[in-house]
Amino acid sequence: MKRRDFLLAGAALGASVLLPSTPARAARRRVRLGMIGTGMRGQVLLRELLRRDDVEVVALCDVEPIMLKRALDMAAKAGKPAPKAYGEDGDVHAYRRLLQQRGLDGVIIATPWEWHAPMAIEAMQAKVAVGCEVVAGITLQDHWDVLETQLRTGTPYMLLENVCYRRDVMAALQMVRAGLFGELVHLQAGYQHDLRAVKFNSGDPDEPYGSGVEFGPKAWSEARWRTEHSVRRNGELYPSHGIGPCAMYTGINRGNRFTHINAFASKARGLHEYTVAKSGGTVHPSTRVQFKLGDVVTTTLACANGETILLQHDTSLPRPYSLGFRVQGTRGLWMDVNRSIHIEGRSPPHAWEPFQAYQDQFDHPLWRKYAAQAEGAGHGGMDYFVIHAFVEALKAQAPMPIDIYDAVTWSAITPLSEQSIAEGYRTLEFPDFTRGLWRSRKPIFAFDASY
Ligand SMILES: NC(=O)c1ccc[n+]([C@@H]2O[C@H](COP(=O)([O-])OP(=O)(O)OC[C@H]3O[C@@H](n4cnc5c(N)ncnc54)[C@H](O)[C@@H]3O)[C@@H](O)[C@H]2O)c1
Repeated sequence: MKRRDFLLAGAALGASVLLPSTPARAARRRVRLGMIGTGMRGQVLLRELLRRDDVEVVALCDVEPIMLKRALDMAAKAGKPAPKAYGEDGDVHAYRRLLQQRGLDGVIIATPWEWHAPMAIEAMQAKVAVGCEVVAGITLQDHWDVLETQLRTGTPYMLLENVCYRRDVMAALQMVRAGLFGELVHLQAGYQHDLRAVKFNSGDPDEPYGSGVEFGPKAWSEARWRTEHSVRRNGELYPSHGIGPCAMYTGINRGNRFTHINAFASKARGLHEYTVAKSGGTVHPSTRVQFKLGDVVTTTLACANGETILLQHDTSLPRPYSLGFRVQGTRGLWMDVNRSIHIEGRSPPHAWEPFQAYQDQFDHPLWRKYAAQAEGAGHGGMDYFVIHAFVEALKAQAPMPIDIYDAVTWSAITPLSEQSIAEGYRTLEFPDFTRGLWRSRKPIFAFDASY
């Protein structure tokens, strides 16, 4: 059996019957990984890979020579053997050659959204395990295609949703599992992040944030591709940071599922005002663009077990960053924006308590075990955990803790919310990607301190 087939056979078996803590075969000591897309995000994830002794980064691919060089320099500075480089010729399909590289166990995909589904599908077909940045695809059909490919090939796929590993989010998961909130009733979250300076810049690679009002080919990094989605799409464009934790709390695809969805979009003002203000009196072409994305998009989901979940996408207006978590049950609630909690019978009546003491008490075993290693990793440490989980599951040939069903269910919120808005805020039935398996599937995410 070839090394790659051996890894995959174990993972496919594990996916159907085993929990991560009971891997099918003895864990492998090392994995050989490649990365497609070595831009701003890719480099953050690469740093995590390069820090590990159990990962060999053997291949890097990017069509932007500056980004590719930065990544290769990172490997050299870390004292690692030079990965094979692909894409410096600008060939947008250079990743296909990377996927054929001998001995490749897995690939991290950190490219613009429109590439995630085709790259993941081709990787799975090549039997190369996938760790995919958020989102899983663009259209609803993309999501079905990614799912069908994973089921047909058995190749492991994990959505690299890092917020599921945030320390307070994981402590809240422990509280949910301990029954602290009673029976869950309602949850809120979202992506509330002023991205105006991310969506526009001058195109200078050394000033990717807020240095100008270009977007598209003349811009740099995310402004090159992400802003275009605000021009032609109107929906919850970035659901997984918010819905990921909420889905873990409510057991979506594992005893529960989304049944209905609708979405409302406000008017679009923020990006236009920003370009006018930033272009300093000149009439830059960006000031004439009509942005379709509503400044605040509000999405509601209903769950089979009776919970409701509200998501807000809010990226075009001035505001401090907040994912706006609220987890509410029959005995109390947690809200992250005021870092407060109220538990009936434990908190003073009708009063908030600071969350910190609860977080310390319910700190997740993963954080207790790996806090030191996570120190300095991206996004307050959670990027350490998401890479750790992917690598450990791959080594153990065990199910991915954020698996294909999670990926497509969370990510499909985008096309469904777009459809709802386009059809006059219509409430839609949410597709059951598990085809009924949600009833018997068991939670696997972060049950202990392994990953
Ligand atoms: N989980 C998180 O916290 C988080 C944070 C930031 C970004 N992201 C996600 O990461 C992904 C990448 O975002 P980013 O900020 O790094 O953007 P970026 O524009 O800085 O990087 C994307 C890179 O992909 C390269 N690329 C484009 N097409 C390619 C192709 N066909 N083949 C090879 N390379 C190609 C680009 O040249 C660029 O260097 C996005 O999906 C984004 O949503 C996630």
